[in-house]
Amino acid sequence: MTDQAPEAELDIPGKPTSASRTTLSHIMTHGDTNLLGTVHGGVIMKLVDDAAGAVAGRHSGGPAVTASMDEMAFLEPVRVGDLVHVKAQVNWTGRTSMEVGVRVLAERWNESTPATQVGSAYLVFAAVDADGKPRRVPPVIPETERDRRRYQEAQIRRTHRLARRRDIRELRERRVAEGFED
Ligand SMILES: CC(C)(COP(=O)(O)OP(=O)(O)OC[C@H]1O[C@@H](n2cnc3c(N)ncnc32)[C@H](O)[C@@H]1OP(=O)(O)O)[C@@H](O)C(=O)NCCC(=O)NCCS
Repeated sequence: MTDQAPEAELDIPGKPTSASRTTLSHIMTHGDTNLLGTVHGGVIMKLVDDAAGAVAGRHSGGPAVTASMDEMAFLEPVRVGDLVHVKAQVNWTGRTSMEVGVRVLAERWNESTPATQVGSAYLVFAAVDADGKPRRVPPVIPETERDRRRYQEAQIRRTHRLARRRDIRELRERRVAEGFED
């Protein structure tokens, strides 16, 4: 069920998902808007990266840097005055990297309806040492059926990320070898 290096599981104790799960909440202001008057996507992306970074730091017990962000989805516009909640948790861990899943919810300032989901994203963080070199992370221990599903889905994304990277690298190398690009 896991593609972690066996030694990663042997001598670093695991940490449950709930130990690092984090929610970051923020009220949107006029300074956050785009030309249409709704909240700029980059403002939400920053909050997503902040929340995911806090989770990665908590889980790994030290500094962690964003290696990639994918599948950032904006489902509904966010408006000035909305209270945005960014919920993040470790979905999966490898040897030195972690996938953090993030859901973005908005409580509309002028409606009494429950918070609606307005976005989501998956980020990979690498835990690093003082020299910026990758360091080992504790294996995450999924606690609920939802955590276990997210772990399995993260493994699928991990496989696709690695395959896509390898295929693109091979294509570029082939084109250089064939003299199309230098
Ligand atoms: C992320 C970083 C530490 C990776 O360093 P590296 O020398 O390539 O090390 P590795 O190849 O061993 O990768 C480390 C881990 O990150 C994962 N990783 C690296 N790049 C990745 C990417 N683009 N997507 C997904 N995972 C990635 C690797 O799979 C590996 O995971 P594993 O140990 O669990 O198998 C390095 O590229 C870096 O410092 N990047 C800049 C990060 C940064 O500054 N972010 C803030 C944005 S300004």
